[in-house]
Amino acid sequence: MGCLQDGVLAAMNELRFDGKVAIVTGAGRGLGRCYAELLASRGARVLVNDTGSGAQGEPGAERPAESVAARIRADGGEAVADTHSVSTQAQAIAGSALAHFGRIDILVNNAGISGGGAFESIPPEDFDRMLAVHLGGTVAMSRACWPHLAASRGRIVNTTSASIFGSAWNAHYVSAKGGIFALTRALAQEGATAGMHVNAVMPSAWTRLTAQIPNADFAGLLEDWFPPESIAPFVAWLCHAGCALNGETFHAGGGRAARVVLVEATGVTAAAWTPEAWAGQETALMDLEGAVAPASMLEAFRHELAHISEDTRRAAAGKHIGID
Ligand SMILES: NC(=O)c1ccc[n+]([C@@H]2O[C@H](COP(=O)([O-])OP(=O)(O)OC[C@H]3O[C@@H](n4cnc5c(N)ncnc54)[C@H](O)[C@@H]3O)[C@@H](O)[C@H]2O)c1
Repeated sequence: MGCLQDGVLAAMNELRFDGKVAIVTGAGRGLGRCYAELLASRGARVLVNDTGSGAQGEPGAERPAESVAARIRADGGEAVADTHSVSTQAQAIAGSALAHFGRIDILVNNAGISGGGAFESIPPEDFDRMLAVHLGGTVAMSRACWPHLAASRGRIVNTTSASIFGSAWNAHYVSAKGGIFALTRALAQEGATAGMHVNAVMPSAWTRLTAQIPNADFAGLLEDWFPPESIAPFVAWLCHAGCALNGETFHAGGGRAARVVLVEATGVTAAAWTPEAWAGQETALMDLEGAVAPASMLEAFRHELAHISEDTRRAAAGKHIGID
């Protein structure tokens, strides 16, 4: 097939967002800027939200939301800047999108700050601020947009982090990102009843945030192989009405995306209901052979029921045998 035909076919299949309104939080820099620019280049009208704060949430002198929105408009797209905070002014952000564009179809909860420290020495106010911006901001923005997203059968993409696999010295950040991972699954189930889809990404990208990583090899790899532009197309696809995925989280970066799930092993049954019966069971407990990835608490409970011991079943004197 010739180049011209390839080009025509690609244009016909292009995923477009014409008529859609997207809010991208933290869109003045890094990943959010790439998401906003890509969505706008595909026809979305974009509210470019960013407080312009410093890396750790301190007030900043820059107005990056305005420059990103201006650049989008200069490129022929539609965008409006918004400088409210996701943690304290979510209603104003949703209101701004509605005032300018009249509807909300897409919410990308991306705004974030960084910070670190030993668990016992992180000041309580820093811990609270981290939770407030990441988890609180995601909750507040999702609540403010919820009825409008329900009306448009819209899409939410949240931002969690691979740090929830395990990462020391930033317990406040990891706690917030773990909450977002769980919130994504909860909202996906509720939103599905209104035709909404809620997914999340764990990005790996070279941005202001990762430029602070002290390990030079790790930072160098991110800088060379993981530009934020390598994630934006995946996030845009999750935002598209044609994407059927719901309740999923993906580790994304460098042009790759991989599904991340919670698994439950087959499990072990104790020979007796005593602490001693568990001693020496570590190897069996840690075995993931036969593990499953339940999509809901009910599915996890069914898995649990299927592997309960015969003794426990007998102790229940034959009750509940019909549950499946
Ligand atoms: N870069 C990575 O590899 C990586 C890894 C894991 C998670 N993340 C997450 O991705 C998201 C984007 O981070 P980034 O790497 O692009 O960092 P970034 O610092 O370049 O961008 C974050 C933006 O959020 C804005 N912001 C901060 N607080 C805000 C608030 N209260 N309201 C509105 N905007 C606010 C900042 O001003 C900034 O422009 C964050 O949630 C971050 O935790 C990034």
